[in-house]
Amino acid sequence: MKEKSAKSPEPEEPEQNFEDIPGVGPSIAQKLRDAGIRDFMELAVASPDDLATLADIGTAAAQKIINEARKQVNVGGFETGVEILERRKKLGRITSMSKAIDELLGGGIETQAITEFYGIFGSGKTQLALQAAISVQLPPEKGGLDGDCVYIDTENTFRAERAAEIAQGAGLDPAKALARIHVARAFNSSHQELLVPKAFELAHDLPVRLLVVDSLTAHFRAEFIGRGALADRQQRLNRHMHELLRFGDVFNAAVICTNQVTARPDVLFGDPTGPIGGNIVGHTATFRVYLRKSKPPHRIARLVDSPNLPEGEAVFSVTSEGIRD
Ligand code: GTP
Ligand code: MG
Repeated sequence: MKEKSAKSPEPEEPEQNFEDIPGVGPSIAQKLRDAGIRDFMELAVASPDDLATLADIGTAAAQKIINEARKQVNVGGFETGVEILERRKKLGRITSMSKAIDELLGGGIETQAITEFYGIFGSGKTQLALQAAISVQLPPEKGGLDGDCVYIDTENTFRAERAAEIAQGAGLDPAKALARIHVARAFNSSHQELLVPKAFELAHDLPVRLLVVDSLTAHFRAEFIGRGALADRQQRLNRHMHELLRFGDVFNAAVICTNQVTARPDVLFGDPTGPIGGNIVGHTATFRVYLRKSKPPHRIARLVDSPNLPEGEAVFSVTSEGIRD
């Protein structure tokens, strides 16, 4: 049994009894547990279709179970502004190790949100993700959340040696730091989607405060080709991103996604390149940060979209110790 950190964001009751929910017998309860669902909150925010598939029940029955779970955890109702403010007070932030980027993001990479880094190859997306995977482990007074990182690597670009170097740069013991990064390679888009429930399972046992998906879109782009596949691709990406967002909410964790840019032949004026995934990704990501190369080792991060922060730019560099101003 793994030790549970006292600093886990959602102190979990030992076992929640799904059988207490009307319509849930021992067999469905077991299926829910097998599917990695551990508490009422996860049930309450599940989609009826997903739950129906997972538990092998009808959609109507799934909806009923979800409604009951919602009553127990009081979601789905309205919140007052006071309550929203309370929840926002719990927001954590992870330092990027660049003051300029932290300021651009309102103090660091925020929990309960998706931060998307997009840009061309070599713009620094993976380096920022690796830096965050280390920074999250720092104590709060140093800009971390004393948490673990789950890292979904779709392009096989996670380098342990580099993470160890960045750990050292942050004053952490490299071996201990690597032990707190839980990396899974995703071989295709379906595999990538399946790794999210796995991350939920892991986060029940460990204080995971950061989920990285590097890259969010590469598999989807490679697998769904042509206009005919576009609607499917967007729907799958949309679902995937909402699962990631749910992870962020349930565990008060930050979610970082990286995204490449692609030529957009439809754009006649202005920047003819844009992030893959278009509006779906753009609307679901809470913060979009566009990275571009400048005079080496400098790079420029531009906050493109945020609910409450002004647009702006920050200059940063990729050094041997990690991200710095
Ligand atoms: P793609 O994944 O190819 O789209 O690019 P990316 O945006 O993820 O680029 P990445 O973050 O991997 O690299 C950005 C830049 O960081 C590279 O061009 C290098 O200049 C620099 N960099 C990468 N690895 C190291 C390293 O180990 N040490 C140092 N000092 N710099 C590095
Ligand atoms: Mg990369």
